[in-house]
Amino acid sequence: MATIFLNASQVVTAAGPGRARRGHEMQALEIRTDTAVAVDGDRIVAVGPPDVVRAAHSTGEVVDCGGRVLMPGLVDSHTHGIFGKPRHEEQELRAAGVGYMEIARRGGGIHSSVRDLRARSEDDLFELALPRLRRLAAHGTTTVEVKSGYGLTPDDEIKSLRVIRRLQQTLPLRLVPTFLGAHEIPLEYRTAPHSREEYIALIIEEMLPRVAAEGLATFADIFCEPGVYTTFEARRILGAARTHGLQLKLHADELETAGAAELAAELGATSADHLAAISEGGIKALAGSTTVATLLPGTMLFLGRPKQAPARALLDAGAAIALASDFNPGTSPTVNFPLVLTLGISQLRLSASEAILAATVNGAAALGLAGETGQIAPGYSADLALFDIADVRELPYWYGDQRCHATWVRGVPAYGAGNAS
Ligand code: NIG
Ligand code: FE
Repeated sequence: MATIFLNASQVVTAAGPGRARRGHEMQALEIRTDTAVAVDGDRIVAVGPPDVVRAAHSTGEVVDCGGRVLMPGLVDSHTHGIFGKPRHEEQELRAAGVGYMEIARRGGGIHSSVRDLRARSEDDLFELALPRLRRLAAHGTTTVEVKSGYGLTPDDEIKSLRVIRRLQQTLPLRLVPTFLGAHEIPLEYRTAPHSREEYIALIIEEMLPRVAAEGLATFADIFCEPGVYTTFEARRILGAARTHGLQLKLHADELETAGAAELAAELGATSADHLAAISEGGIKALAGSTTVATLLPGTMLFLGRPKQAPARALLDAGAAIALASDFNPGTSPTVNFPLVLTLGISQLRLSASEAILAATVNGAAALGLAGETGQIAPGYSADLALFDIADVRELPYWYGDQRCHATWVRGVPAYGAGNAS
């Protein structure tokens, strides 16, 4: 039996091709009024005038949207959701002038989360992640990519990915797992008798085969940045990941230019993420590729760095842009995706249409899911968010607020609407 969503002030369908929207295509966001949506099982089956939809699904249960805005559930294509303790002490260090990479050189930053995660059990990590992901869901997010990357040993990376699998089985969210064993070179591989080369061999020869054998990840990612992994190393590690059937992502040109965006395009990576320090050549390369440029303005804001990714130049060149939270304990501890939309407009100079498409259709494209989620159109998964606003432009406007009233994932209530799971 179908469920019919009636009385929305706007239905933001974002309808269009099931692929990333590029360049000027991102200015065209379909918003309908006087429109109903019918859902049958996990699929959207009709979008149209209320009387027509009701007549076709007369026995359906009704959800009264009460004059709110109904839109595709938000797709957060970049998070590091599996970690232990928060790292608030680094916030003050940065305010006092100690940079992000300097904190890492002193053994803090990612290394501090690694020490902490290694000491925790799978159960403990699961219990910590559960409420954090529920908070993401409470802001309208229905699809979340989640990376490992704070284990950096075979067992601790597998432990993190198994936590993601348990979360998939527990939460009514669409979770996409990414293996990020190449998040850092662990401290123990920086001094003799060990070497970074040995750690890279461990990723290629032991971690990737185990991750693939257990089917624990869809993507492999790498922090390709001066001082972390070189483009040469990234090419090797991602090449190996691909032979194990994993799709590719890169933390690319986040703080310093390194040619990582060009590498992402050359490898046909699904996305290149961050890009605050992308070069002109990198912009051209992404514009000429299918790789989605995933921008994370919350990260630069939280780090107190003045330079944001050149979103307008990317769009002018014809690239596809996604927005994501980068939810993590070091550089972006926010669960509020609508706040990231606010930053997309105020910091990246996107229009509201561009920001919303970047967080729905293009977020889905950054996960290879543009034919499955991110729009309200027949055939798509019923991943919906209902916001307590009358016009979708209010979503980035009431910045920092929590306006999500309810969400549904695959047609099942996920947040609000009486669902407390
Ligand atoms: O996306 N840059 C690398 N990874 C994360 C930060 C991780 C951390 O500091 O714990 C990021 O910003
Ligand atoms: Fe990240």
